[in-house]
Amino acid sequence: MTGKVFLIGAGPGDVELLTLKAVRLIKQADLVLIDDLANPEVLQFAAPDVEVVHVGKRCGAHSAAQHEIEALMLAAALEGRTVARIKGGDPFIFGRGGEEMQTLCAAGIDVEVVNGITSGSAVPATLGIPLTHRHCAHGVTFVSGHSHKDGDEPDWALLARSAMTLVIYMGLNHVSHIADALMAGGLSGDTPAAAIQYGTRPEQRQALASLATLALEVERRGIGSPALLIIGQTVGLARAKTVISSTQHKELT
Ligand SMILES: C[S@@+](CC[C@H](N)C(=O)[O-])C[C@H]1O[C@@H](n2cnc3c(N)ncnc32)[C@H](O)[C@@H]1O
Repeated sequence: MTGKVFLIGAGPGDVELLTLKAVRLIKQADLVLIDDLANPEVLQFAAPDVEVVHVGKRCGAHSAAQHEIEALMLAAALEGRTVARIKGGDPFIFGRGGEEMQTLCAAGIDVEVVNGITSGSAVPATLGIPLTHRHCAHGVTFVSGHSHKDGDEPDWALLARSAMTLVIYMGLNHVSHIADALMAGGLSGDTPAAAIQYGTRPEQRQALASLATLALEVERRGIGSPALLIIGQTVGLARAKTVISSTQHKELT
């Protein structure tokens, strides 16, 4: 009998945002593979004697390569084990869950995806930033700001014209380039913008600014990874008080 792999979303960090289903399946697993982005506190729900493998990387520490992680899950499932593969946020939103599902399914392994709350929706909510609003944002776009070596990147000019709230994952290292590209595409420099690090966790930090001043604010406040960039009129509804517009910045400098 082969086992089964559960690709489980652990949500953005706050353990209370874990689903009941995730808790039940983590309890039942006899092998747990946990990514660095998932809060390790979720391991409190695992059986005391369960085998746990930390497979993520952060701060340059060694991490398992994607093919090694997939091989590990495959081998365990073929031995008949129940695997909980725990990922940050939702496994199907920039979480490589699709690739893992394809590999496991191709090998005949039973896979089930357990959705988690993606950081893109939970993290802005911590500051009272809605992603849609009937008066100022008719939609939201989740997009990766990670630029690939081949220069492949989102069509920022198209996104600038979309009038949607933009939630940019993995964009922090390119914040200056992204802001410039959006402004070159026609988005006003005064558009409210935010960068939020470790959202929903006690160590959460944020920079609230305008599109034109976002990169400067990120640097000034020392915002690091993992962080989301949120750009659009709804960011102006943020409950924090430290929003700096590009006009104010000009006055300050
Ligand atoms: C590889 S993606 C994984 C996204 C995840 N699957 C999700 O649904 O949230 C990693 C990126 O997600 C964002 N991220 C995840 N958790 C976050 C958090 N608690 N606060 C801010 N950004 C977060 C950051 O942009 C980070 O670089």
